[in-house]
Amino acid sequence: MLSFFVLSLLCPLLQPVLAVTIDMEGLPDTGLDTSSWTTGVLPPLEDIWDLNDMQIAAKNVLSGKFYASYRTAALNEYTYQANLNIYSKVRLNGFGFRDVSNLQTSTTILGHNFSYPFFIAPAAEAGHANKSAEASLASAAGKAGILYVPSISSTLSIEKIAKAGLKDQVMFHQEYIWSNTTQVIDELDRIKAAGFKAIFLTVDNTGINGIRTRSMRYTAGSDTGHAANFDLNSLAAFRNLTDLPIVPKGIKTWQDALTCLHLGFPAIYVSNHGGRVLDGAPTSVEILMDIRKNVPEVFDGMEVYADGGVRRGTDALILLALGARAVGLGRPPMFANIWGEAGVSRLIDLFSQEMKTSMQLMGVSNVNQLNTSYVNTNAIVF
Ligand SMILES: Cc1cc2nc3c(=O)[nH]c(=O)nc-3n(C[C@H](O)[C@H](O)[C@H](O)COP(=O)(O)O)c2cc1C
Repeated sequence: MLSFFVLSLLCPLLQPVLAVTIDMEGLPDTGLDTSSWTTGVLPPLEDIWDLNDMQIAAKNVLSGKFYASYRTAALNEYTYQANLNIYSKVRLNGFGFRDVSNLQTSTTILGHNFSYPFFIAPAAEAGHANKSAEASLASAAGKAGILYVPSISSTLSIEKIAKAGLKDQVMFHQEYIWSNTTQVIDELDRIKAAGFKAIFLTVDNTGINGIRTRSMRYTAGSDTGHAANFDLNSLAAFRNLTDLPIVPKGIKTWQDALTCLHLGFPAIYVSNHGGRVLDGAPTSVEILMDIRKNVPEVFDGMEVYADGGVRRGTDALILLALGARAVGLGRPPMFANIWGEAGVSRLIDLFSQEMKTSMQLMGVSNVNQLNTSYVNTNAIVF
């Protein structure tokens, strides 16, 4: 030990790397100890016990620029923070005197069978975390039987992601409203030819991205290529471009939900884009409650998906109880991908275990039984 100390004084290259302390960004403290980690080095997956741990590990290993690109959100990040905090305001009702010895977590999304009612939401550039990029997300999702919806701004091509999935794996694909219609037509054709079964059409980038200060410090915002003039007429025209089912993503008001119902969409996706577009936008909890209060028929007439700040199995159960049929995870799988497929698989294992444990504690034997009787939202005031 003494000789190492003397040697390290003589040769700075032998200086031991100082134990890392990482700013945990106010995430719940569950005792994660990073003192044995080395900055820039992938920590062992065995240290990871929940999705927040995965975010801290990604912060430790990714460059500041790439971490910011995943973590960033718009303006003061009020909506980003609200997404994380809203779940603490909802109380879960746990019923006794029920047989919960056999839990059913499987469900259908647009008629396709999946083992859980949560999915990997579209998120651009998985290649910033791992060379395998979207391939690990597709493969881990396929093995677990959950839905993956790659972003149109992925690192890998539409075709490569399709090939990375298992044989017969059902995936949907996200699309943006580009101002270049030729590009839209070409991408929709390729998505269909590659075997994707539905389109999540993101409608909340209305020609522009949110101003994301955290990532602009590394990369200034540039022209998004999104159309700013996309109105109901454009939506009608868009629907003629593909015969795949289209699900508008980024619905934030009950009025837009009702419009989509009247237009005959099979589903909508309630989302504020992880707080990355309109700062101040409500959380999915509030939007789902607003839809139920004003236009409850939406939940009978179409499937509703939701996301934003989902980090615990209980968060997903809250959204399901409020009427979502399936719940998306945005940042967590991107962070988990620092370990490649093994990380994404561990995420799915940990998250599904949290979900099943809490279902059992709530007296819910089948995810499709969840309804508003399981949640108390009295603390949420509009
Ligand atoms: C790094 C990153 C990239 C994203 N890229 C897209 C995208 O290309 N298309 C899209 O519709 N949504 C995109 N989103 C939004 C996600 O689909 C999702 O709505 C959001 O991340 C959910 O919030 P969460 O990250 O708190 O789970 C992105 C989100 C992140 C974090």
